[in-house]
This record gives sequence, structure tokens and C-alpha cells, in this order.
Amino acid sequence: MSGADIEAIKNQADSEIENVSSLDALEVLRVKYLGRKGVIVQLTGSIPGLPVEMRRIFGQQVNELKNRIISLVAEKQKTITVVSSEEAVGPVDISMPGISQELGRRHPLTQVTDEICAIFTHMGFSVVEGPEMESEYNNFTALNIPLEHPSRDVFDTFYIKSQVSSLKLQVETCDRLLLRSHTSPVQIRTMKSSKPPLAVVVPGRVYRPDAVDASHSFMFHQIEGFIVDADIKFSDLKGVLEVFARAVFGKDIKMRFRPHFFPFTEPSAEVDISCIICGGKGCSVCGKKGWLEILGSGMIHPNVFRHVGYDPKKYTGFAFGMGIERIAMLKYGINDIRLFFENDLRFLNQF
Ligand code: DAH
Repeated sequence: MSGADIEAIKNQADSEIENVSSLDALEVLRVKYLGRKGVIVQLTGSIPGLPVEMRRIFGQQVNELKNRIISLVAEKQKTITVVSSEEAVGPVDISMPGISQELGRRHPLTQVTDEICAIFTHMGFSVVEGPEMESEYNNFTALNIPLEHPSRDVFDTFYIKSQVSSLKLQVETCDRLLLRSHTSPVQIRTMKSSKPPLAVVVPGRVYRPDAVDASHSFMFHQIEGFIVDADIKFSDLKGVLEVFARAVFGKDIKMRFRPHFFPFTEPSAEVDISCIICGGKGCSVCGKKGWLEILGSGMIHPNVFRHVGYDPKKYTGFAFGMGIERIAMLKYGINDIRLFFENDLRFLNQF
């Protein structure tokens, strides 16, 4: 080995690296010169066999050669990468606008649910949630819904197929499991686990075996609300719901209470607001009536109190329940409930 050998290797490395045109071929050269069994390692290994006076200078030359090859390979790597990415995407136009990153947002139903909950928490209500799988007892029996009531039918409620052999017993004792058909069973759960005074709202999913169309879905959302204390009156219900309706639909909204029947409240009322489209004159949205139904409500039935162990002579209360999709549809003028569940960004991005 001599300085002349090194010069020859350097020239060869220079031209080989210069002429290479792919990253793969460059890697082959890198291994050839810089690899564990490569040229540089072999040169270094030959140093001990040299006359003592040559070792230092030869060692220096090998080192210089090594550094030269390292930087040539790195340089070449950069040019090949730029060229090959330009081949793939064409020349880069750095004046082109970038691709902006879309920010996520809350679903319109979540926004409306949060808004409604905030209105009630400002009035002193707490937010409670309950399970979507319920007992027949909590969903119907404890709410004073009689055995023969049509809402208990399999056409109106999703019952859960039991894995256990006692299904027959469960049917007989009316204690099957089901997907809750309203949020009212959370009244029962809350009253059983705590004592009055209570002021609670319950948002959540509910299920009914309805055919899907523009105004029906087999899964939708409700929000339930109720207050229990000594001496709660129907006028308290009216006051609370009026604050709610004005906050959601605006100060000028009018309300009316229509007598109705629900098994779990007595007396019961359905609540309408003046049509937010025509202001009460009558249009296609309100079916020429000038009013839009928004919720069901009433004074909690004494039988409900008996089921949870409250003394109906000591306590009174009111309750109400509404569909969140319906409120959102009225508020934003949405005419098809299916839009909420299709996850089409052209719809969702508007909220
Ligand atoms: N649970 C009823 C339904 O799903 C709504 C409802 C009406 C809830 C009156 C109430 C109430 O708490 O008092 O149709």
C-alpha cells in the first residue's frame, strides 16, 4: 500500500459516486467504501504491516479519504432525493397555497345538548346520565305505565334477547331488559339513589323501532328534566320552561300549555312555542297552526313517588321531556333528521 494506491482509490470513488443516479446504487457504493468490510476498513487494517515511519502519514491519508467519501455520498444523496421527488410530483411551486388543516368541531346535536344543559345548570339543575340498557321496571312500571300500555309492545320498544334460561320468567314478571325508549327512567334511578330537593336534567340516547324517514329515527336523543321538593307547583314548571324557551328560541317567543295525558304526570301538558318561521301567522312548517310542539311535561304522578319510596303527601314535583333533534331542527331550520347521522361534512361544517 502507498500514497499512490490511495490516490487511485480516491479517483475511482470520485467518478463512481459522480456517475451514480439512484439511491439504491449509491447505497451499494457506500457499503463498498465505508462498510464493515469496505475499502476504508481494509486500508486501515493494512497500517500495522507498514514500515513504522510511513504509518502516521498513511493513516492520515486514509482518514482524509474516508471523510471525503462520506461527504460525497451525503451530497449525492441530497441531489438524488430532490431530483426523484421532482420526478414524482413535478417541479415544486413554492408560491402555491398550502393545504390547510381542517379543525374538528362538535356535532350540532352535542352543541345543542350542551346549550340546553347550560341553560338549566344556570338555573341550579345538575346534569345526570343513565344507562341506555334499562329494565322494564324502570322504563315502564315505576313510571306508572300500565302493563297493557301500547308503548310496551315489541313494535314500540327494543327488547334485549336474554342469554339466560329465565327469559320466560322475565316475560312473566315483566322484567326484561330493553333499550330505553325515553330518558324518563333516569327519574326513577335518581330519585331512588338520592333524597329531595332534586333539580336534575338528563340528556341521552333513546331507541324506538320506528321506520327511518325525514322525521323518525330508531335512535335519537332526549333531554329529561325534573324537580322534586316540598311545595313545587305547576307555575314553577311554567316559569322554568319559559326561561328555557326564551334562551333557546329568543326573547319574543310565545308559549302555550295544552292539556295532554302521560301516565307518569298528572296533570300533564304538551308545550308549544309560537312558530319561529312565521311568528304565529301560519305557514307550512307549523302546518298553518302558528304553533310548534316542543315537549311533554306535567306534575309527577304520586304513584311514581310511591315506586321510589317518596311520600307523595310530603313532596311534589314537575317533569318534562323533549327530543333534542326536534329542538335542533327547529332552531336551525333543518328538515330531515337523517342529516344528523350521515356524517356528511357539507352538513356538519355549517355548525
Ligand atoms: N317520556 C316522554 C316521551 O318520551 C316525554 C315526557 C313527557 C317526559 C312528559 C316527561 C314528562 O318527563 O313529564 O314521550
